[in-house]
Amino acid sequence: MTFKQEIARRRTFGIISHPDAGKTTLTEKLLLFGGAIQEAGAVKSNKIKKGATSDFMEIERQRGISVATSVLAFLYKNHKINILDTPGHKDFAEDTFRTLTAVDSVIVVIDVAKGVEEQTEKLVEVCRMRNIPMIVFINKLDREGRDAFDLLDEVEQKLGLTVTPLSFPIGMGYDFKGIYNLYEKNINLFSGSSKKKLEETISFDDVSNPELEKLIGPSSAQTLRDNLELVEGVYPAFDRQAYLQGHLQPVFFGSALNNFGVRELLDCFVQIAPPPRPKMAEERLVEPSETQMTGFVFKIHANMDPKHRDRLAFVKIVSGTFERNKPYLHVRLNKQLKFSSPNAFFAEKKEVVDQSFPGDIVGLHDTGNFKIGDTLTEGEVLHYKGIPSFSPEHFRYINNADPMKAKQLAKGIDQLMDEGVAQLFTLELNGRMVIGTVGALQYEVIQYRLEHEYGAKCTYEPFPVHRACWVEPEDPKSPEYQEFLRVKQKFLATDKRGQLVFLADSAFSLQMTRDKYPGVKLHFTSEFE
Ligand code: G4P
Repeated sequence: MTFKQEIARRRTFGIISHPDAGKTTLTEKLLLFGGAIQEAGAVKSNKIKKGATSDFMEIERQRGISVATSVLAFLYKNHKINILDTPGHKDFAEDTFRTLTAVDSVIVVIDVAKGVEEQTEKLVEVCRMRNIPMIVFINKLDREGRDAFDLLDEVEQKLGLTVTPLSFPIGMGYDFKGIYNLYEKNINLFSGSSKKKLEETISFDDVSNPELEKLIGPSSAQTLRDNLELVEGVYPAFDRQAYLQGHLQPVFFGSALNNFGVRELLDCFVQIAPPPRPKMAEERLVEPSETQMTGFVFKIHANMDPKHRDRLAFVKIVSGTFERNKPYLHVRLNKQLKFSSPNAFFAEKKEVVDQSFPGDIVGLHDTGNFKIGDTLTEGEVLHYKGIPSFSPEHFRYINNADPMKAKQLAKGIDQLMDEGVAQLFTLELNGRMVIGTVGALQYEVIQYRLEHEYGAKCTYEPFPVHRACWVEPEDPKSPEYQEFLRVKQKFLATDKRGQLVFLADSAFSLQMTRDKYPGVKLHFTSEFE
């Protein structure tokens, strides 16, 4: 197979949803179709069970699983599919945001009864900002749910999308008869048997065919015809280009648990979803077909086995062929590195590979060289963009609880921050350290891991901050900026990259500061144009 063919057959994507909408179930069914697993139940859910906030075994268990399921790869109809797993728990939302920088498209799963939920809104917003192509899968059609048109409306309004259904349900819940596939023009009848592994479909180019009555009964046939007419009248026709640019989102209906509508989704997905896309670096746009290897780290997993101090850095290959034992430039450190055992992922296994292509993820064993966002190249100085830090929502002082272990604590904090577990801010005024997180759960994770992996103890103290804002002065020499630095010194800190951050203690003071210093831009993320 040529290099170009290898690129063209790759599909690297993520599945996003609010917890419980059916992400794990759908992933598992996709793997079943790909023949990567033999039976249902083989994919472990990486979600933290409800009420397990203080159960550290649960956190460790979850970390173990999330390494195993970080990338689930399989072959389907000669396509190489890479599913990048995203944690569902909202306290780990930042992990998900970062993973979204490594996908070329996403599938959004929505529960037919619950509709658009909070976590879906946040994640879709990130995808929309980046114009990531999205397919929507409305799940659990075997249950009583909302009217399909109402749901499509809600998806458009709450998520700001422009949808076009490529399949449409015939009935729902108790009355659920099946799905009409507008893309392939056929009907798939629902038998209610969850054991059914492969589905039979009946071709139906023209729904006015009276055979339809025989198949689903007169009333369902009429409803389906009316609905399809409405679909045609209301929604734009599917246009692949618009989908690829992030302007149009096709919708499928089904039931992941019953393996229903999943094949349609997958068949359409491999046809329309994009192969690896070009990626913007600070310096230039990089095309996957370029022969020189480039890639970036989007995730780091550390110290799974406390006896082995190594970490696994997940690198998305953007261009060229990644080869084992070939030296690559670690741009931030300006250092050549060779990797003797890069891991590739296949279903739930990882194995050493000699070559990886754009779209693939390789896991590199690392002894502390990598940070999230690092770029690897064959010599060119490139910095991939798009892995920003977002303002955390919780802030606490972190104190050393064992003066004998100050070194261990510093090392532990340093490494956990590199992994992206939380963000560290150092106060300008007194050098005290503040940890910012997306969820309260992370404080327990950090405390536990510092103690068990680094032998260090910490305590926390409340630190009332409303938002962290990255500071960008229009003119660093202006008297206005100098005054801002002087007056607000108490609220200023540096993040781990040395960028200046303003820690606003309330929404009111943030607004006041913005009004008073219009020449000082305050951003909620660390990357701004
Ligand atoms: P998540 O990863 O998005 O959090 O969701 P997950 O797949 O774990 O699914 C959440 C629950 O919804 C599971 O039930 C799962 O069986 C169920 N589910 C998924 N797809 C469908 C579907 O098409 N129809 C119906 N009726 N249910 C579906 P659970 O009871 O929480 O877990 P389990 O004990 O079944 O594993």
